[in-house]
Amino acid sequence: MRRAIYPGSFDPVTNGHLDIIQRGCKLFDEIIIAVLVNPDKTPFFSVEERCEMLTEVLKELDRGDCTLTVESFAGLLVQYAADRQAHAIVRGIRAISDYEYELQMALMNRRLQPRLETVFMMPAEEYSYVSSRLVKEVFQLGAPIKDLVPALVEQRMREKSS
Ligand code: PNS
Repeated sequence: MRRAIYPGSFDPVTNGHLDIIQRGCKLFDEIIIAVLVNPDKTPFFSVEERCEMLTEVLKELDRGDCTLTVESFAGLLVQYAADRQAHAIVRGIRAISDYEYELQMALMNRRLQPRLETVFMMPAEEYSYVSSRLVKEVFQLGAPIKDLVPALVEQRMREKSS
């Protein structure tokens, strides 16, 4: 039974995140999508809204035999992963620019919890430039975000802004 944690802000979940989760389903029996509770950031969506949207859009995902769970977490990721008896952390890497930050986190997490592996996965090329931050920015400036996020997320973003 191989269990992974896919941690992140998911503010909001994008099609790039879903692509990574779908790829992760080929490697793991269970993936816990873990939404960080970060009191230092002012998010677009609350943690509850993000978890609810994730749960909803994951219903449509082709997951094979993989069990997908959505949870929120606070505090140290490696502690949360140990509590959940996870074997690995999954992170998506889009471009070289992601690599430096991800490498730092992976090595720090390894130092803190040597038995926990970080698995980097690459999304499909069509999502290689998609980030929650840019999606929010272009949406707030009036540009279309169809095909970058699930339809439900686009709808919730419209509701929030109206
Ligand atoms: O989607 P994000 O914002 O890039 O995700 C970052 C995340 C949640 C993976 C990272 O901030 C994290 O692990 N936070 C939990 C606190 C922690 O363990 N920090 C030390 C990381 S080396």
